Amino acid sequence: MQVLLQLGLSLVLLAPQYTTTAAAPSSQCQRQCGNVDIPYPFGIGVNCSLSKRFTINCTVQDGIHKPFRGDFEVLDISLTHATIRMLNYILGFCYNTSTRSMESVGRYGRRIQIRSGPSSPLRLSDARNKFTVIGCNALAFISDNDTGYQGLGVATCRDPLELVDGSCSGMGCSQTTIPNKIYNYEVGFSTFANTSRIWRFNRCSYAVLMEAAEFKFDVSYINTTKFNDTNAGRAPVVYDWAIRDVVRCDVARRNKTGTYACLSSNSKCVDSTNDQGYMCNCTHGYEGNPYLQDGCTDVNECNYNPCPSDGFCHNIIGEHWCSCRVGKRYVKQSNTCNPDTGFIIGVTMGLFGLMVFIVITIFWGQLIIQKRKLNKVKQEYFRQHGGLLLFDRMKSDKGLAFTVYSLAELIHATDNFDNSRILGKGGHGTVYKGIIKNMPIAVKRCALVDDRQKKEFGQEMLILSQINHKNIVKLLGCCLEVEVPILVYEFVPHGTLFELIHGKNHALQISFNTLLRIAHEAAEGLCFLHSYASPPIIHGDVKTSNILLDDNYMAKVSDFGASILAPSDKEQFVTMVQGTCGYLDPEYMQTCQLTEKSDVYSFGVILLEILTGQLPLKLKGSETQRSLSSIFLSAMKENNLDAVLVSHVKGEESMELLRGLADLAKKCLDMCGDNRPFMKEVADELNRLRKLSMHPWVRIDLEMDAESLLGGESTSGYEIELNGYPMGESENQPINPRSSYYAR
Ligand SMILES: *[C@@H]1O[C@H](CO)[C@@H](O)[C@H](O)[C@H]1NC(C)=O
Ligand SMILES: *[C@@H]1O[C@H](CO)[C@@H](O)[C@H](O)[C@H]1NC(C)=O
Ligand SMILES: *[C@@H]1O[C@H](CO)[C@@H](O)[C@H](O)[C@H]1NC(C)=O
Ligand SMILES: *[C@@H]1O[C@H](CO)[C@@H](O)[C@H](O)[C@H]1NC(C)=O
Ligand SMILES: *[C@@H]1O[C@H](CO)[C@@H](O)[C@H](O)[C@H]1NC(C)=O
Ligand SMILES: *[C@@H]1O[C@H](CO)[C@@H](O)[C@H](O)[C@H]1NC(C)=O
Ligand SMILES: *[C@@H]1O[C@H](CO)[C@@H](O)[C@H](O)[C@H]1NC(C)=O
Ligand SMILES: *[C@@H]1O[C@H](CO)[C@@H](O)[C@H](O)[C@H]1NC(C)=O
Ligand SMILES: *[C@@H]1O[C@H](CO)[C@@H](O)[C@H](O)[C@H]1NC(C)=O
Repeated sequence: MQVLLQLGLSLVLLAPQYTTTAAAPSSQCQRQCGNVDIPYPFGIGVNCSLSKRFTINCTVQDGIHKPFRGDFEVLDISLTHATIRMLNYILGFCYNTSTRSMESVGRYGRRIQIRSGPSSPLRLSDARNKFTVIGCNALAFISDNDTGYQGLGVATCRDPLELVDGSCSGMGCSQTTIPNKIYNYEVGFSTFANTSRIWRFNRCSYAVLMEAAEFKFDVSYINTTKFNDTNAGRAPVVYDWAIRDVVRCDVARRNKTGTYACLSSNSKCVDSTNDQGYMCNCTHGYEGNPYLQDGCTDVNECNYNPCPSDGFCHNIIGEHWCSCRVGKRYVKQSNTCNPDTGFIIGVTMGLFGLMVFIVITIFWGQLIIQKRKLNKVKQEYFRQHGGLLLFDRMKSDKGLAFTVYSLAELIHATDNFDNSRILGKGGHGTVYKGIIKNMPIAVKRCALVDDRQKKEFGQEMLILSQINHKNIVKLLGCCLEVEVPILVYEFVPHGTLFELIHGKNHALQISFNTLLRIAHEAAEGLCFLHSYASPPIIHGDVKTSNILLDDNYMAKVSDFGASILAPSDKEQFVTMVQGTCGYLDPEYMQTCQLTEKSDVYSFGVILLEILTGQLPLKLKGSETQRSLSSIFLSAMKENNLDAVLVSHVKGEESMELLRGLADLAKKCLDMCGDNRPFMKEVADELNRLRKLSMHPWVRIDLEMDAESLLGGESTSGYEIELNGYPMGESENQPINPRSSYYAR
């Protein structure tokens, strides 16, 4: 029994979280045939390609290896454009002077027929091919028996002298566009339009579906066989390929039984525009093969000289930046190095230095005085913000991963706090994207703080800097030389949970399981905050827009950095109730006493947003209809959960899971804080629900032994760094052991 249980559990832990992904091809696979690259998903042989439909035959012809698909030679395969170019056969229809009748010439004779069926990855490219007909009395057709499409190409001549090289508009030559979504087609000549009357001048007519860019009409094509001869009877045709067994990207991502082909990190899925299906592409700043694990690699943009010729280029992961020589400043708009006005003044001063020596001396004196003043102000800020204390601690705590940045460094990193770098604005500051040592960072300029708060700044920042949890945004450092402190965080690129739920193409793209996982991770983060210190660190402004998402869409709780700026004594509570409407703990509003249960309440609202897909507060509607929590609680009371659930989860997820989640939300939203569960309990319950949603069949095993077996796993997921915790050790900065660190 014990063994069975353990087996069941390890199954759960090992099972993949998302849709299954295609198995990678062996590295032994041949990736070239002759001079042609055969990138995956295509491959030579069944086990080297995504599926049988993507196989290529590599055969020897005239002593050279050439790739073939059926009868058609492959010229090249493009991953970025999702195209494959092949050689199509030219159809000829000629007057035979000895039999005095028309006859078809060429490999395919009278008509060429391609039948591949809708499951083929290939579709004729409507954008790049044209049905091309050459002759003086030629009527050729192209048709698709499956869709009923029929097109005609007609070429006639009035006066042979009228024909012009490069002109293909009906005289001696015609080009017809074709529609998209074509996989079967047939090309042939009409026997009515024969050249018996004019054979002395034009004996043969030609028809072929070919790449338009590869064709240029030549007058000699009319009275010779040059068109056929120069191409040796074949002409290139372009196909768009895609993975066709699912309709679109969103379906592919959700399909639990299918295989999602976009394996590489930094890749994205692109819907096919030529019939159903999808392709993969590396995201901006990356190149390579998105269909392979880690196939997309960073583009070294500097190879393409994106910077001014007199500047310097620096490649970083996903992007690049430009800089200029000393004395010049990089101007982004014009992509030039412009003279730095400061530098010009310096040069001018140098040139006229001797002449105005005395004046300069006076200026210089004044400058020194001013600089001293400035330095003094900076140092004062540094001291006020607890910088000295911080330095002391840093000296004693070896290996503290916390940096005190200089103002100059941050100005350089953020382009002087350029507006284009703004990531977000909030009540307590503005966040900019910056780049330091090739690492993207998020720089937060806080709103003004008062004197008393400044004093505790350094000490409290130290605590936050030591929090190291995968679901909490890492504080990398700060800058203390300024009046308002600047905080530096790790950069989290993928927006917020709010955008995921309420954004433009919200719930469509994201599965309910993913939302559940993000909620669970956020709960783990908050649980860690609550348990890290005593008294607990309270976030105080838990909401979906404070849950950031990293590269892998893992949740990172953010914005507790502002906690240190929030008031921490009782008089101020009365005047400053902080938080966001719709998420506020009703008990907190009455008592003005923020507790960890206030975070639990707010987290309950997040669960509601996930369940209902609605905003926590609506501006329209009657008083009781405005707040999501009251709508939800009354729906629960009437036992009418269905009415509030977001439509697309209703059918897909088990009612048991949804009810479990709703019950959890209800407990979190209890009016009385003491009745709400602890964050740890919320996280454990979410963990249980996740397992339930993934593998309903092992539910019984789990329920029997979940508590004991899973309990250990959830705490080992993060590192706790307790040494160096500075509680109340400093003489000049005593800390009230009862006070908490609040967020807003
Ligand atoms: C392809 O792989 C399958 C399963 O791994 C194996 O049975 C089969 O023999 C392989 N085929 C070739 C042609 O290598
Ligand atoms: C490869 O060649 C084999 C044997 O001639 C043939 O059955 C198969 O259809 C060919 N496959 C492709 C993709 O051309
Ligand atoms: C893939 O990305 C490149 C560069 O961003 C773009 O030119 C190309 O059209 C994209 N391909 C597809 C199939 O979307
Ligand atoms: C075109 O050229 C190919 C190869 O040279 C030849 O087999 C075919 O008969 C030619 N067709 C016409 C219509 O001349
Ligand atoms: C014309 O037809 C005859 C008899 O079928 C054949 O032998 C000859 O090669 C043909 N001529 C041309 C130019 O195709
Ligand atoms: C070609 O056209 C002539 C009349 O212009 C007709 O007599 C002859 O039968 C036609 N030949 C074929 C093969 O259709
Ligand atoms: C095309 O479709 C028609 C009617 O469905 C059928 O009679 C004809 O045989 C088909 N032609 C080919 C080449 O499949
Ligand atoms: C083809 O026609 C052009 C004039 O249109 C003439 O100059 C040329 O000699 C002709 N070539 C042949 C092989 O008849
Ligand atoms: C899921 O993928 C499988 C295999 O790729 C496919 O047969 C099935 O139709 C897909 N389901 C949906 C809903 O597209």
